[in-house]
Amino acid sequence: MPYAHITGWGMAVPESIMTNDDLSKIVDTNDAWIRERTGIGERRIAKPDEFPSTLGVEASIKALKVANLRPTDLDLIICTSSSPEYIFPATACLIQDQLGATKAGAFDLLAACTGFIFALNMAAQAIRSGSIKSALVVGTETLSRFVDWKDRGTCILFGDGAGAFVLQASDQPGGVLSAVMHSDGSGGDSLSLPAGGSRYPATEATVHEGKHYIKMDGKAVFRFATRVMASATQEVMDAAGLTVEQVRWIVPHQANIRIIEAAARGLKLPMDRFVVNLDKYGNTSTASIPIAMVEALEKGQIKNGDKLVMVGFGGGLTWGALAAEWTGPLPSKGHVHPEQYRVFGRLRSYVRRAIRFIEGLLYRREL
Ligand code: ACO
Repeated sequence: MPYAHITGWGMAVPESIMTNDDLSKIVDTNDAWIRERTGIGERRIAKPDEFPSTLGVEASIKALKVANLRPTDLDLIICTSSSPEYIFPATACLIQDQLGATKAGAFDLLAACTGFIFALNMAAQAIRSGSIKSALVVGTETLSRFVDWKDRGTCILFGDGAGAFVLQASDQPGGVLSAVMHSDGSGGDSLSLPAGGSRYPATEATVHEGKHYIKMDGKAVFRFATRVMASATQEVMDAAGLTVEQVRWIVPHQANIRIIEAAARGLKLPMDRFVVNLDKYGNTSTASIPIAMVEALEKGQIKNGDKLVMVGFGGGLTWGALAAEWTGPLPSKGHVHPEQYRVFGRLRSYVRRAIRFIEGLLYRREL
C-alpha cells in the first residue's frame, strides 16, 4: 500500500493589515482586551478583488513549486473553505481552472475550521488506496466578507488567507500516519452562518436581520474547543502508536491562545511544543493550520523526520486531528514552473468558453 507524503506547501495572505487599534475605531474594543482574551494582535483583510480562489491559487502555486510538480500532474483537488466563493460551482473548480490542472477532479469539502484536517485525511486515504497518485488540498478564506463589523464578539477574531499542501504517493514509509474525524451536529447552532442556503434564501428580511453574518456563542465554542483539542490529539497519537514524547510539534487551529494553552495543559506539554502564529493572522478558519505549518517550515522549526500532530475544531460542530511524519519533497528530476501553467490555464479557459459560446449559437440556428 503506498504511503501519502506531504511534499509541497504554500501560503498566501492579503497585504492589507488590520490591527487591534484599527478595530477599536470601528467597534467598542481595545488592543489590551483582544490580546489578553484571544492572543490576536492583527489580521489580514482581503481587497475587493481578492477571493478564496485567487488566494488559494497563489498558495497552491507555491506548494506545487516546493513539490516540483506540474498542475497537470494533479489527480485531485480538494478545497475547504468556510467562505466559499459560491454555493456552486465549487471553489475547488475555480482553482482547478486557474491553475490549469486539466487532469484533476475537484470538489469542496465543508467542515468549517476543521475542514483542512478532514480534507487532508480524504486526500491521503485516496492515495493510500492506490486510486490516485497526487492531490492538492487548499484551505482558503475571505471570512471578512461574512463578519458583522458591529459585533465585537466575532469581528475581532477572524482574518483572511490561504494555505495549500501537495500530497504524493511513495513506497517510502512516512507521511500521513493516522487521522481522526468527529462531529456533533447537536451543537451546530453554536457557530453558524444562518442565511444564504436553502433554509433561509436571501431576502430583504434576511439581510435586514443580519442573518448573512457569522453568529457565534463564543463561550459555548470555547468550552467545546478546550474539551476536544487535547482528547483528539491523544486519540490520533494512540492511533499512530506514538507517545507524546515522540511528537515534536503540535500544530493547532489558531482560534484563541487560551484554547491552545488549555490543550497544552491537557496534554501536559510546554507551549514551546505548539506552533502558534495567531497574533499575526487571527483565526483564518480552514487556512489557519496550513498557514501555521508553512511559517514553521520556512523558519526551519519543522524538520524532515519530525513527527507532528495537526489538530482542529470548528462549526458543525466538527473536530479532528492528523498525525504525520515530515519527509519533505520527493526526489524529482529537473525544475518545473507551475506558475507558467496559469497562463496556459487562462488561455485554455478562454478557448473553452469561446467554444461553448459558438456551440450555443449553432444550436440556436438548428432549433
Ligand atoms: N472588546 C472588549 N470587550 C469585549 C469584547 C471585545 N471585543 N467582546 C466582549 N467583550 C466584553 C463582554 O461584553 C463582557 O463584558 P461584561 O462582563 O461587562 O458583560 C466581557 O468582555 C467578557 O465577555 P465574554 O464574551 O465572556 O468574553 P470571553 O472571555 O468569553 O471571550 C471570545 C470571548 C474571545 C469570543 C471567546 O469566548 C472565544 O474565543 N471563544 C471561542 C471562539 C472561537 O474559537 N471561534 C472560532 C471557532 S472556529 C470556526 O469554525 C469558525
